Amino acid sequence: MTGTVVVGLQFGDEGKGKIVDYLADRADVVVRFQGGANAGHTVQVGDQLYAFHLLPSGVLRTRSMNVIGNGVVIDPAQLLKEIEETRALGHSVENLRISDRAHVVMPYHKIIDGLEEKLKGSLGAGTTLRGIGPSFEDKVGRFGIRMCDLVDPVALREKLETMVPIKQRLIDAYGGTERLDLETIYKEQVEYGLRLAPFVADTSVWLDGAIRRRKRVLFEGAQGTHLCIDHGIYPFGTSSDCVAGAASVGAGVGPQFLTDIVGVAKAFTSRVGTGPFPTEVEGSTAEYLRERGGGEYGTTTRRPRRVGWLDLVMLRMAVRVNGLVSLAVTKLDVLGGLDRIPICVGYRFDGEAVKEFPASMRVLSRCEPVYREFKGWPDLSESDWIATAKKGKRALPEAVRKYLEFIEAQLKVPVRIISVGRPRAATIGH
Ligand code: IMP
Repeated sequence: MTGTVVVGLQFGDEGKGKIVDYLADRADVVVRFQGGANAGHTVQVGDQLYAFHLLPSGVLRTRSMNVIGNGVVIDPAQLLKEIEETRALGHSVENLRISDRAHVVMPYHKIIDGLEEKLKGSLGAGTTLRGIGPSFEDKVGRFGIRMCDLVDPVALREKLETMVPIKQRLIDAYGGTERLDLETIYKEQVEYGLRLAPFVADTSVWLDGAIRRRKRVLFEGAQGTHLCIDHGIYPFGTSSDCVAGAASVGAGVGPQFLTDIVGVAKAFTSRVGTGPFPTEVEGSTAEYLRERGGGEYGTTTRRPRRVGWLDLVMLRMAVRVNGLVSLAVTKLDVLGGLDRIPICVGYRFDGEAVKEFPASMRVLSRCEPVYREFKGWPDLSESDWIATAKKGKRALPEAVRKYLEFIEAQLKVPVRIISVGRPRAATIGH
């Protein structure tokens, strides 16, 4: 039995939600294993657009179970909102399990996120202000409150009585003016706990049972390799591990089960937030890329994404640290209508060729991309892309095939899924 892991290879926003949704067709269980409500996965079913932050994308498939693993930090209010919205759209959420070991994002985490960002100045990552960093800080610092505490009023009270005064001191020291009220926080959180309790379980045990029953499990990564706390552009990434190995830790399953690793790369690059971005473009080309394909705006924050060309230095590293078995390339339709499309094949730093993605941000910010130009392809309508997808890979414009063949040859990983638009039907898989 194999577990499939889907990870982003760039700065998040690669279109993973759509790929997970596509692969979830063949999965019995979909698992989120890291990140939190900073993620935003957009899935289109028919005319309906769904944007999830915490719910696994498989929740729209009635036959698949969905798990939020221990590696995710959970904002209970946000999760309850998504559960209610999904129910209102006519989907049952009875197929959801939440790990009792997942950490909870508390209201003070969001306050501290904002304060820390301000204090960091140019070292701030431009976070989503969802309290992600501070809740992972608490997890590692052993200050955290977990789902097993949230659903237990006695444990919750005990922890909050210790934590709230500590966090108030931190807010004061950071120069914040916010006042934390223990009773208000307790009342609010205890109610969230009661509402979420039916979903909370030891999901590692549950997943072990599913694997033994030979269920097909799909692990849904959030963010992307270059936002990873260990392998990403530190300190401008997020606070969780976003690579395939994190699926084992963040779901509580052995690594030997994770043998099918699918990496999702957008046909160009984009990011929200700060930090070096060697292939970034500005001006009218940036606008062209940003305004097409549904618009390059953050799903969580609606901030305009910075955009740039495909970067193979980034992707080569992502292939290695994830142990990729195959690739999914998305948003090829967005590049339609351009005459020439550059791909970055390497960097130069102080006149020297740079082979591997540098650790130092000072070096990365001075790296000059080396490009190879490709012929563009026509700007097809959505229905034309869907008709092309129906016919398969061979029906794609020749320039698209050449672009994909070059990526495959450079990365030495086969492209298994090609996405040429948001709808499910605009997908070629094999
Ligand atoms: P945080 O995860 O909210 O702490 O934000 C840290 C950095 O990661 C910021 O630059 C965010 O814009 C970025 N980020 C976090 N989650 C996502 C995501 O799901 N997609 C794209 N960027 C993200």
